[in-house]
Amino acid sequence: MNKNRIPMIAGNWKMHLNAKEAGELALALKKGLNPDLPHEVLVAPTYTNLWAVRQALAGSKIILSSQDVHWEEKGAFTGAVSPAQVLDAGCTHAIIGHSERRKIFGETDEIVNKKMKAALKHNLVPVLCIGETLEERESQRTYRVLETQLAGAFSGLKAEETVRVVIAYEPVWAIGTGKTATPEQAQDAHVFIRRQMEKLYGKDYASRVRVLYGGSVKADNIDSLMAQPDIDGALVGGESLKADKFLRVIHFEEALAR
Ligand code: PGA
Repeated sequence: MNKNRIPMIAGNWKMHLNAKEAGELALALKKGLNPDLPHEVLVAPTYTNLWAVRQALAGSKIILSSQDVHWEEKGAFTGAVSPAQVLDAGCTHAIIGHSERRKIFGETDEIVNKKMKAALKHNLVPVLCIGETLEERESQRTYRVLETQLAGAFSGLKAEETVRVVIAYEPVWAIGTGKTATPEQAQDAHVFIRRQMEKLYGKDYASRVRVLYGGSVKADNIDSLMAQPDIDGALVGGESLKADKFLRVIHFEEALAR
């Protein structure tokens, strides 16, 4: 982490938990959170659990996010949820372009771009996910993939429209596999991402944008990841479903030392 950027620790609860369980988990996080922590904590429950989690989090600084958002305002889009509906459910942020959306639901960079534009238009903060597959890494295409995904996601957007966007670097091979990128591998990718953002929007923008790491982040590896200067936080899947473990991730060593 770098003290000029506010760290963010985000929990992606994916398609887990019922409303009661999600509410209980949120309550446990609210109770266990050190109120003096200077950084941002975010949870992204399943749509159907947003209401329960919103109620549980009332009065806390924990941020509520959706796991996705559709680009259209309203209409015949069965199964989709609009930016206005996500806001109405209490979310201020939306995860966009998660690799599971890209892989399982066929989301292209073009779709990701539409979602980015729709979210920003409605003042929803996108948490944009990018990352390479194992095959892409092994064939030395990591940087090319990241460059393409970033160019696609930000296409047609001006710097001033995107200042609040948070980027999450999530190597696909590290998600849910227990195989974390080494802190050095993550740091290298983050530096590359920052360089791309500099090309798109300039030095000042690049030095401010927050880049989270995601992929098998755990209570026992968060400290070494956060010790890297360009890792500004984490997007956590599995480990964010257990209150004690996720609280340990949130309260990573350097945060407490500040
Ligand atoms: P994981 O998931 O922590 O379970 O690997 C991360 C993510 O998909 O955001």
